[in-house]
Amino acid sequence: MTARYVTDWTGRWNGTTTAVVRPADTEQVSHVIRVCRRAGIGVVPQGGNTGLVGGSIPLHGEIVLSLARLDSITAVDPIGHTIAAGAGVTVARAQAAAREAGLIFGVDLASRDSATLGGIVATNAGGVRVIKYGDTRAQLLGIEAVISDGSVLTRWKTFTKDNVGYHLPSLLAGSEGTLAVVTRVLMKLRVPPPHIQLAMAGVPTIGSALELLDALRRSGLTVEAAELMTDAGIRLVRRHRNLRPPLVTDTPFLLLAEVSGPADAETMMLETFEGAGDLIIDATIEHGSRLWGYREGHTESINASSTTPPVKLDITTPLAELESFVADLTRVIASEFPDVRLIFFGHVADGNVHVNLLDVDPERTREITGVVFELVAAHDGSISAEHGIGRSKAAWMHLARSTVDVEVMKAIRHSIDPSLILNPHILPAARPAGASRVAGDATPR
Ligand code: MLT
Ligand code: ZN
Repeated sequence: MTARYVTDWTGRWNGTTTAVVRPADTEQVSHVIRVCRRAGIGVVPQGGNTGLVGGSIPLHGEIVLSLARLDSITAVDPIGHTIAAGAGVTVARAQAAAREAGLIFGVDLASRDSATLGGIVATNAGGVRVIKYGDTRAQLLGIEAVISDGSVLTRWKTFTKDNVGYHLPSLLAGSEGTLAVVTRVLMKLRVPPPHIQLAMAGVPTIGSALELLDALRRSGLTVEAAELMTDAGIRLVRRHRNLRPPLVTDTPFLLLAEVSGPADAETMMLETFEGAGDLIIDATIEHGSRLWGYREGHTESINASSTTPPVKLDITTPLAELESFVADLTRVIASEFPDVRLIFFGHVADGNVHVNLLDVDPERTREITGVVFELVAAHDGSISAEHGIGRSKAAWMHLARSTVDVEVMKAIRHSIDPSLILNPHILPAARPAGASRVAGDATPR
């Protein structure tokens, strides 16, 4: 009965729970938190359970607090361009509600049918529209959340210009369920762009993909999304989804670019591609969403193809470092882990690459993760671009944050959740004062 709450969909993260609780509203969430705090039981908030770093999986019997039933959309404001909704509303439903009002929701990701608004806020999810609208935090106007003593924190203003003290919604965005349980969100909606044009360009190098992207940005077109893929990734997706090749010619790298602009956006894109002819081996410009299938099929195809749960590392480097990072990564994996298949893809304009390592011997997961993260640090990057830290990356936080930075985070957490009951195994935590055992063996890291 509880199996789907204690395992993530990649199969990599498993745990145990004492109970799954499914409250229907904020008051019930508050009640659950009060009871758990009194009993010293850890609570793991869970939305669609689509995270990739083990952040919503209980480790040692903590209670799973599912927000799935907080699923009403209470308001869509077509003039103020906002949506107010429960934490359990899926991204796809928020997108549909926005469309009905002639607007769009600024976050989009392949897991849209399961990922929830509470989940994307808790993880500060990224996705394919960050290049245009920013991450989830950038969409967040207001929040309702239950803190660890059961009080309800409400910050709810339908406008951006509200400069009164700390911006607590921003603090909760990306806190991975450690500071509060998000119950309702107030988010921005956007005006849909004019004429959309989609293209796939086969390019010889990552450098040429970046140059082509730069040319598109300078042409007067607006880049709505820019996704990098490799020949190896495309082959995997084609096999899994039974698709024909996207281009006539096979190329080492592929750039999927969605742009918007005036009525002649197609001509502008064509002219830009012609002007950048020496960067491109082959290209197709299309209407419709067919080309997106190659990109969106990556995650499921990788999962289906790997003989062991894939090691999924989501990193960023400065754009100027991306090509040399990938070259070093490819070399190191080939020499130190010759049986491992490397497939990477991602939101190239943000310098964000999803490094997927297939067929990794589970005994070597930690070792290979460390090797990749050391390389990321050497290239001045970040060990988590958009998936968060969760359980999978906590051991390497020192590569991305200074001691002082981590201590400030611990102090904030301790001041809001002194008994450490909220998602106790995620992110660094100070030991609760006088506690020997709290929240299901919540060993502080
Ligand atoms: C994506 O961009 O498709 C997601 O972040 C999922 C993934 O990394 O597999
Ligand atoms: Zn992504």
